[in-house]
Amino acid sequence: MSKTAKLELESKSLTLPVVVGSEGEHGIDISTLRQQTGYITLDDGYGNTGSCSSKITFIDGDKGILQYRGYPIEELALKSTFVETAYLLIYGELPTVAQLNHFSNLLTENEMLHENMKRHFESFPPSAHPMAILSSMINATSCYHPRLMEGYKAENFTLQAARLISKVRTIAAYSYRQARGFPIIYPKTTYKYTANFLHMLFSQPYRDYELKPEVVRALDLIFLLHADHEQNCSTSTVRMIASSQANLFACAAGGVCALWGPLHGGANQAVIEMLEDIHKSGDDGSRFIAAAKDKTSGKRLMGFGHRVYKNYDPRAKIIKEQCDKLLSVLHINDPLLDIAKHLEEAALRDSYFVERKLYPNVDFYSGIIMRAIGIPPEMFTVIFAIGRMPGWIANYKEIAETQGSRIYRPRQIYTGPTIRHFVPLEQRTQKA
Ligand code: SDX
Repeated sequence: MSKTAKLELESKSLTLPVVVGSEGEHGIDISTLRQQTGYITLDDGYGNTGSCSSKITFIDGDKGILQYRGYPIEELALKSTFVETAYLLIYGELPTVAQLNHFSNLLTENEMLHENMKRHFESFPPSAHPMAILSSMINATSCYHPRLMEGYKAENFTLQAARLISKVRTIAAYSYRQARGFPIIYPKTTYKYTANFLHMLFSQPYRDYELKPEVVRALDLIFLLHADHEQNCSTSTVRMIASSQANLFACAAGGVCALWGPLHGGANQAVIEMLEDIHKSGDDGSRFIAAAKDKTSGKRLMGFGHRVYKNYDPRAKIIKEQCDKLLSVLHINDPLLDIAKHLEEAALRDSYFVERKLYPNVDFYSGIIMRAIGIPPEMFTVIFAIGRMPGWIANYKEIAETQGSRIYRPRQIYTGPTIRHFVPLEQRTQKA
């Protein structure tokens, strides 16, 4: 017997179907509410609203659970790679050896940008934020491949997805080099995904960057841990754009813009800037914690809190462990890591954070790893975007392949002026 929900409305009693997900989540299907009652629901920030059903990622915020296509993030972090996990998210199953080799080869074959695109990079000022460059160059890339400009077609999809995943890495590296006046370093077909990215970032024409396995592994893990996260702000943006049947590259460019905000993917850069300010001020973190609790301070403990996780973000736990491992391998003693750990300890003992269930999220420690690798803070959210690309692509594919999927068009409750009529200019007096 399927579950239902009753809604008493004026003299009406409405029975609405209840949808139960494979992990036991319950949702009231209100898709006929307006038609039956003239009412809509209102949910600022969508905290109580499901925009879709999805088979890609499951999060249990109370228990701190994250699963990609049913696989626990802890297992994937330990045993998988970013490219293998990207395949899993996009196609729904872990790849066979042949499938993984084919996918990996596609990434290798599509790592170069059209040579004319160098002119676009040269036109950006050195101070241009790499997220601005990334979002614009994703769309620019598709202009060189007309088939990429087309909406979803099953026969084109895999090549489009591979080109996007592969080229965002090259775009990111080029923007880093261009901002510093360094010559462009072309990818090497002998390098796998993350190693090639580090090569394009840090090698010089006269000397290849030394690829330490621990560094490659740490960055690959950062990409993997960021690969998808249910209907977060940027993924919902990608789905919103995909619902109009725009092409994959347009959706990804929109996702980059949504991710940029400091409340979302921009938080990793904001965390390091926060830690650096605390370090410079000689504060041991206590003053900052006090400010973060004071609403009038305009400060928040960046990298803390989450709309869904009311427990420790499982990704933060993995990244924190990785910080200790990588910094000891690289013989780095980063005072910002000590400050971060002190902030975490102080916050998790403080009733303000405990009562609001504010814990470290994925952004709290990730910047420490990227800093140790030599990636500058303005590139942190670009790294997040590279990691999130498979999740956006998987959601684009899911909505494109859903039979009868409709354009996303939320309603609103209008609270502006009621009807009034045009007043000629000469009759308008300045209202007091
Ligand atoms: C990501 O959605 C995803 O899945 C995102 C993400 C992904 O992988 O895609 O996980 C990636 O975006 C992680 C979040 C990164 N952002 C930050 O770290 C920025 C700092 N965090 C916050 O601004 C906040 O916690 C959010 C934006 C993450 C969540 O905001 P909500 O759910 O809208 O919560 P809220 O702002 O309504 O806060 C509830 C209360 C408020 O206090 P009261 O009004 O109850 O007194 O908690 C307070 C807030 O002031 N609060 C904080 C705080 N976060 C919330 N107070 C101090 N410091 C903080 N960080």
